[in-house]
Amino acid sequence: MKFATIGHLIDEKSMDFIPKEWAINNMIVSPEKNINGIKGHITGLTLTARQMMELPIEQVREKILDTAIFLQEVHEVDLIQLGALTTSVTSGGVWLTQQNEYKGFVNHGDSYTAAVTCHAVEKALNFYNKEPSKLTLSIIGSYGVIGEAVSKILISKFKKSILIGRRLEKLKELTSKIDGNFQISTDLDTASADIIVTATSHPKALLNPTHLKKNAIIIDVSQPPNLSHEVCKLRPDICRIDGGYVEFPVKHKINIPGIPSGKIFSCIVEVIMQAMENDRNNHVGSIELEHLEKTKNWGRKYGFVINELTNFGKTIN
Ligand SMILES: NC(=O)c1ccc[n+]([C@@H]2O[C@H](COP(=O)([O-])OP(=O)(O)OC[C@H]3O[C@@H](n4cnc5c(N)ncnc54)[C@H](OP(=O)(O)O)[C@@H]3O)[C@@H](O)[C@H]2O)c1
Repeated sequence: MKFATIGHLIDEKSMDFIPKEWAINNMIVSPEKNINGIKGHITGLTLTARQMMELPIEQVREKILDTAIFLQEVHEVDLIQLGALTTSVTSGGVWLTQQNEYKGFVNHGDSYTAAVTCHAVEKALNFYNKEPSKLTLSIIGSYGVIGEAVSKILISKFKKSILIGRRLEKLKELTSKIDGNFQISTDLDTASADIIVTATSHPKALLNPTHLKKNAIIIDVSQPPNLSHEVCKLRPDICRIDGGYVEFPVKHKINIPGIPSGKIFSCIVEVIMQAMENDRNNHVGSIELEHLEKTKNWGRKYGFVINELTNFGKTIN
């Protein structure tokens, strides 16, 4: 299988960090990568996160489909991973699987990202020597693709959880799928949380100092991040942790703006592992926990795991 990831720009400045030769007809397409025999391309739309969420959805979807068809026809790609907000605007990738013009497989990469997020939470608790049964957890974006899986896995381990989202009916739907002591909220009700997981499609930072309890730990999975450098500086007591970064051999370095050397997003790794396993299936929409477990085994098998916690790429110690 030949893979391609389709992402997008984080903001206007992102283009400055992308090699000029990657820009092709309003798309970003890397030269072919060869990762231990698996070939593929890192690609993206030239839209910023804000444009992804603010332009009419049909327009953004058309650009995603055009890119998928280009990759299929010109580069013989048959496995596409929808990166960052391309998942949010395609109903978790389901929409792309319904387009006849693209004939390959689709993966949102969120299964391994949800697994890695839960692992980051576990590592953070060990690092700070904290016991989840005494703590309050808050998940922002709790009924999203990643948020739902993380909620199902983590809530029963914590003393109390606050599940946050913008739509009350979707929060109510989520409550029938999870066990544990939790409440739901359409407000950014995180000020009592000891640990916060962000997994939103909000196109910029979301949390300000008043949302953060003293010494709170924030696993920030969202891309763009939901907790900014500036807030981290204003609140030295809190600990922000990059969600979703895993180890990746430096020799295969992929020039994605903001990614530290030796790391890569877990969603990109998921599709590379799927190609390595020749798993000829779509993995879109709500996450099957059985598949999530499978991606954890793949991660261990290929060494794409979290070895250290980082904040904006810097090791936390
Ligand atoms: N680090 C990594 O390796 C990695 C990998 C994959 C994805 N990601 C990032 O993870 C995030 C989630 O991805 P996903 O695929 O799970 O997206 P998703 O399925 O679209 O879920 C995002 C959720 O966020 C909610 N949301 C948006 N703005 C919000 C706000 N202001 N307050 C509360 N909730 C809000 C949305 O609610 P509505 O549906 O009501 O709008 C939606 O339920 C994205 O930022 C993505 O880029 C990171």
